[in-house]
Amino acid sequence: MQFIDLLTQKERIRATLLQRIEGILDSGQFIMGPEVTELESKLATYVGSRHCISCSSGTDALLMPLLAKGIGAGDAVFTTPFTFVATAEVISLVGATPVFVDVCPDTFNINPVLLAHAIDEAVQRGLKPKALIPVDLFGLPADYDRLDTLAKAYKLWILEDAAQSFGGSYSGRRAGSFGLAGATSFFPAKPLGCYGDGGAIFTDDDELDSLLRSIRVHGSGVDKYSNDRIGINGRLDSLQAAVLLEKLTIFDEELDARQRIADSYSKRLEGRLVVPRIPAGYRSAWAQYSVLASSMEERDQLMQALQKAAIPSMIYYKISLHLQKAYNNLGYKAGDFPVSEDLSGRIFALPMHPYLKEEEIDQICSVLLA
Ligand SMILES: Cc1ncc(COP(=O)(O)O)c(C=O)c1O
Repeated sequence: MQFIDLLTQKERIRATLLQRIEGILDSGQFIMGPEVTELESKLATYVGSRHCISCSSGTDALLMPLLAKGIGAGDAVFTTPFTFVATAEVISLVGATPVFVDVCPDTFNINPVLLAHAIDEAVQRGLKPKALIPVDLFGLPADYDRLDTLAKAYKLWILEDAAQSFGGSYSGRRAGSFGLAGATSFFPAKPLGCYGDGGAIFTDDDELDSLLRSIRVHGSGVDKYSNDRIGINGRLDSLQAAVLLEKLTIFDEELDARQRIADSYSKRLEGRLVVPRIPAGYRSAWAQYSVLASSMEERDQLMQALQKAAIPSMIYYKISLHLQKAYNNLGYKAGDFPVSEDLSGRIFALPMHPYLKEEEIDQICSVLLA
């Protein structure tokens, strides 16, 4: 059994994708070819944003808006410690200080109630609160109503980390469209993934859009040999854009399948394990289906039982970022973020992809319910 099955999906798109790839090979337009423009237009429409700026990874999709907004030394950027390292890494890369805020125990997303306190504390430490990066963990958008209100009150701008949530929605709005900008990832294992690295930024802000397009190509001005600012090589290549265009044609169907699979898991596992809670009005993209055991010991036993039955499972995230060696310099200690630390000790993710069969779900659940 696969944790994520990309091969079944590949068979569905193989013929049309090969045609597209052949077209690119014949045209020789490997960088910024017409597929990139077509993809950006389709993704912007899908998300409901004025602009989509494709780029080389989800990490660069987070980094580029921070560069565009001039975030740097002395600035505080708020996010959670219960996320993939890239969310905090980009804050450090631009020289700013990541300030962690604990997550809600049921949604695993940033807790708005704790945010206000963290902002006040950052000011007392002499930092300038500038931005907030909520993470839509495992595919579920964060609580943007409350986050927007707080962000306005404290004059922060929001960069949505939608790396895992492309396809998810809240209150009729698609993930990627929240905040000043939304950043997503097309890493192969993501709900919409390419065959390599890729990412995209969404924004309604015209000025930010043109800054991001410049930063994506070494801070280019009128052409790429006139450089107006410091940028990066952050382009998505034409072949990856072609993969994404083909996958987009079956994406909504795949999202429905993910939802059916999540419902099927939850129906069987509820009462035995803590299953994901999706609040009213939200839709998850189900990048992961993660459950909570009652203790670390029980998680280890269950994961071992799954392994014995040749069923893969994973832990996202085993160590909260504030306890990672790379963030020792921030001065956090065990106990600072009790919800994140508790989740790290009990959480584990089950196989999740649109082609998971009902018999496989039965098999997985029977091991967990034994
Ligand atoms: C929450 C989150 N943010 C950012 C990233 C970074 O994306 P990428 O791997 O495409 O650079 C990931 C990818 O794993 C992620 O899960």
